[in-house]
Amino acid sequence: MFYSPLEKPYGPALKQSESDPEWSWLTPLLERGQGLLHNARHGDLARWRAALAALPAASTGFSLPGGLPSFGHRIPDQQALIESLNAFHPWRKGPLQVAGVTIDTEWRSDWKWQRIAPHIDLQGHRVLDIGCGNGYYGWRMLGCGARLVLGLDPTLVYAMQWLACVLYAGPSANLVLPLGIEDLPENAGGFDTVFSMGVLYHRREPVRHLRKLASLCKPGGQVVLETLVLEAQGTALLEPSGRYARMRNVHAIPSPELLVKWMDEAGLQYSRVLDISRTTTAEQRSTEWMRFESLDRCLDPLNPDKTIEGHPAPVRAALLAKAPE
Ligand SMILES: C[S@@+](CC[C@H](N)C(=O)[O-])C[C@H]1O[C@@H](n2cnc3c(N)ncnc32)[C@H](O)[C@@H]1O
Repeated sequence: MFYSPLEKPYGPALKQSESDPEWSWLTPLLERGQGLLHNARHGDLARWRAALAALPAASTGFSLPGGLPSFGHRIPDQQALIESLNAFHPWRKGPLQVAGVTIDTEWRSDWKWQRIAPHIDLQGHRVLDIGCGNGYYGWRMLGCGARLVLGLDPTLVYAMQWLACVLYAGPSANLVLPLGIEDLPENAGGFDTVFSMGVLYHRREPVRHLRKLASLCKPGGQVVLETLVLEAQGTALLEPSGRYARMRNVHAIPSPELLVKWMDEAGLQYSRVLDISRTTTAEQRSTEWMRFESLDRCLDPLNPDKTIEGHPAPVRAALLAKAPE
């Protein structure tokens, strides 16, 4: 049966917020998110919604063979589906498989997940994923036993990509809302685990962001943070004045030691570094599903240890910490 979540895609979370007074703050947020999926002021919304409505029907299902989020059963006309899914270009986070079509995204997000997942327990957790993109990690979190994943990302095309996946997945506990962290009400909270991956360096006040993450957890909940770091000893900090690897709005790239200090300052406990990895052009690259320029065009062609602006090339750290009891 072809499931249509186009009208009310946030069913599982609505059940949660309507049945538990501690989660009542969630209902207006879901309603707002749902409204934006229908009538956000965005020049491409009508085109995206037409593309969603025109996606070929298939029987629904969600599985994770070898860790690859896979939705629906394979449909015979793969070429037509490829063309329809291209309406949601650029596909950045994945890989994903939609009704038999493998989407080779800009990022090998599975590599990041492999660096983080062995260190965390999500069994039965209600998870918040700030800056969730198209919800790729939410599917992986469900695979690790999470019972609900609420993802927030204000970039509307990513919510459209998520909707395309959900059309083939069927009713799902992995939700993407087209909203930002600043849209959460003051009384939001109670999550077992809060993720913030690839977001901190875009924040003007990093410690404030970390404090917010702590406040969104239930007492003793866990925070998973992933961000750009400087491979340097001590408390070094890079505050790029212009662009960093062609990205605008990169405000702060701390050393791992300084990052742990910031987490302490924010009230997070037992912060520990899980992984530090240099981002390679094998992990982030242009593909037929992401045809814009990618990391190779952001590095100095004569010295790939530097960005095009002369900063140290991107290195990312993942950390785990505990919110206060
Ligand atoms: C570098 S991407 C990281 C995506 C994903 N978390 C990952 O680690 O691969 C940053 C994401 O944060 C989103 N974002 C930007 N401003 C945001 C905000 N105010 N609240 C939540 N997400 C935001 C962007 O749209 C983008 O998808």
